[in-house]
Amino acid sequence: MMALVPYDRNSIPALSKLHDPSVEFHFANRRLRLTQDWNRLGVAAVVWDAAVVLCMYMELGQIELAGKTVIELGAGTGLAGIVAALLGARVTITDREPALELLRANVHDNVPPEQQGAVAVSELTWGEGLERYPAGGYDVVLGADIVYLEETFPALLRTLEHLSSDGTAVLLACRIRYDRDVAFLDRLRQSFDVQEVHYEAQRDVHIYRAAKLQARREL
Ligand SMILES: C[S@@+](CC[C@H](N)C(=O)[O-])C[C@H]1O[C@@H](n2cnc3c(N)ncnc32)[C@H](O)[C@@H]1O
Repeated sequence: MMALVPYDRNSIPALSKLHDPSVEFHFANRRLRLTQDWNRLGVAAVVWDAAVVLCMYMELGQIELAGKTVIELGAGTGLAGIVAALLGARVTITDREPALELLRANVHDNVPPEQQGAVAVSELTWGEGLERYPAGGYDVVLGADIVYLEETFPALLRTLEHLSSDGTAVLLACRIRYDRDVAFLDRLRQSFDVQEVHYEAQRDVHIYRAAKLQARREL
């Protein structure tokens, strides 16, 4: 018989953290405070472990960011994009429309005024209105915990293909929860070279770096 366990958010520390009104981090020599709003906005309004591991990876200098043009997909609270900006990149931080108000507030609160001009917050629903974003126009594409909804996988793939050129580095920080997540990576390998470049066991987060395969020339 299946037991119905009442959900008590305080009984599981990892879940209770999602309900905190704000969370603090220290990256790029700054104390960051990200506002969360799980009750109103759900998954888009809390900081996921994948974003934290991606920030650690960027802070270690594993990818060149200074002066680079970066876009973050499914940014949620925007932690990864904010840290990329603090590390010197020009960043477009994107998510679906309902997430943008909180995202803008977090950018405002955590990026110093002199660097605000290097950050844009913009609506990007995967697969839609891609012509508003330059094809192959980014040095780095960031995604933290964005591989999780099977119905979005084709649109997410189209988005990665649109934004990337041969020289783009796509960094995806993922917790692999289901076989379908592995299937997404296999599908990504049809048009990108995909390497696992980092794994953090404590948070169970993998970082994959993908580079677009050169289009095969017709012989
Ligand atoms: C698990 S959250 C991760 C948020 C953030 N990157 C982090 O790691 O803290 C997934 C994010 O993907 C966004 N998302 C889901 N489906 C999307 C879609 N079709 N287009 C754009 N963003 C989407 C959600 O709004 C949410 O912010």
